[in-house]
Amino acid sequence: MQLTPEEQEMLDGRHGRATQKAMQILAALGTIYGAERMIPVTSVQIAGVSYDNLGEAGLQFLSEMANGGGKVRVLATLNPAGMDMENWQALGIPADFAENQGRVIEAFARMGVVTTCTCTPYLIGNVPHFGEHIAWAESSAVCFANSVLGARSNREGGPSALAAALTGRTPAYGLHLDEKRQPDLTVQLKARPKGTHEFGALGKIIGQKMEAYERKPIPYILGIEGAGLEELKSFCASLATYGGAALFHMEGVTPEAARFPPPEASLSITQAELQAAIRSLNLAEEEAVDFVSLGCPHLSIQEIARIAELLRGKKVTKEFWITTARPTKQIADRMGYTQIIEASGAKFAADTCCVVAPIQGRFQVMATDSAKACYYAAGKNKFKTVFKSFDEVVLEAIS
Ligand code: F3S
Repeated sequence: MQLTPEEQEMLDGRHGRATQKAMQILAALGTIYGAERMIPVTSVQIAGVSYDNLGEAGLQFLSEMANGGGKVRVLATLNPAGMDMENWQALGIPADFAENQGRVIEAFARMGVVTTCTCTPYLIGNVPHFGEHIAWAESSAVCFANSVLGARSNREGGPSALAAALTGRTPAYGLHLDEKRQPDLTVQLKARPKGTHEFGALGKIIGQKMEAYERKPIPYILGIEGAGLEELKSFCASLATYGGAALFHMEGVTPEAARFPPPEASLSITQAELQAAIRSLNLAEEEAVDFVSLGCPHLSIQEIARIAELLRGKKVTKEFWITTARPTKQIADRMGYTQIIEASGAKFAADTCCVVAPIQGRFQVMATDSAKACYYAAGKNKFKTVFKSFDEVVLEAIS
């Protein structure tokens, strides 16, 4: 790889141990993927924040980077942690876990990372613009940034994203390059998805179809009549989960779609397939729900406003977590939504989510509108899932 003099200095250790380690990680990645050079990045999203996923080994790596003088050079935010950093006791998080999670956040803080923990950084100020090179590690957010915002990111891992933050660089390969952003599969939609859960189910179908290809195609989706921010957020999370996608184009919706003609290779998706996908996620319809969760990916303020509207003057009958970024919760506080929601008995779980919190075994059946949450709730947390529309999930909590 061709390095600039400053990048070579980083690699030689002249900017400290942590920066050297970071540049070593990036140089190794660049060599593996055949990058010819590094490119500057302006924004980073770091995953691998929950102590539940990191464990002691992950925490030790972070501590070493912080002790080695690591300091971020660009705006860097964090993925959800394993708990609400302020209100963890009310959510039943054990004290020893809280202590370890605090050590993780402290290590990031020492490196200058903005310790706002969310998987929707684009809703709270970490918003790259069209064509901007970034290094993000949250799969749903990477898909959103590439596709909906038109920014450019590979799907980074936790260490490579941190390395990008500490150096302000990433190797120039993959989705940073024009030619790697071309679609190669037309998806003709003959279904009419509406709402977050149907867009999530659509992401599952397309994602699973992509899995059948040896080299994962970049889909070019035709036939969407319109998609709102929350629907796209849900779609991105699902497509990334079930198909490993980091980029799609959607005619009339995403900014790069007009640059390309629809590819010749094509498949179609019918309304019947969409209904079947919804049923496939609804695995416990007849069973009693004991956990309700909305906010995968983290909720927007509009979604919180809708929950408040539906819960006003009602009482929830089940554990109900509302997961969002802390800055979004602070807007909800100011708007009076928090007071309405908490009066119902529902709980805000800021900074965290139903997947990365250490809640395996605490619940049996979870109601959600998120196809991604269904995947991980079943896999990681061993919950059965009831998959419904956003409003129906809120109603489930008070039924
Ligand atoms: Fe975000 Fe957790 Fe879902 S990190 S995308 S809310 S699994």
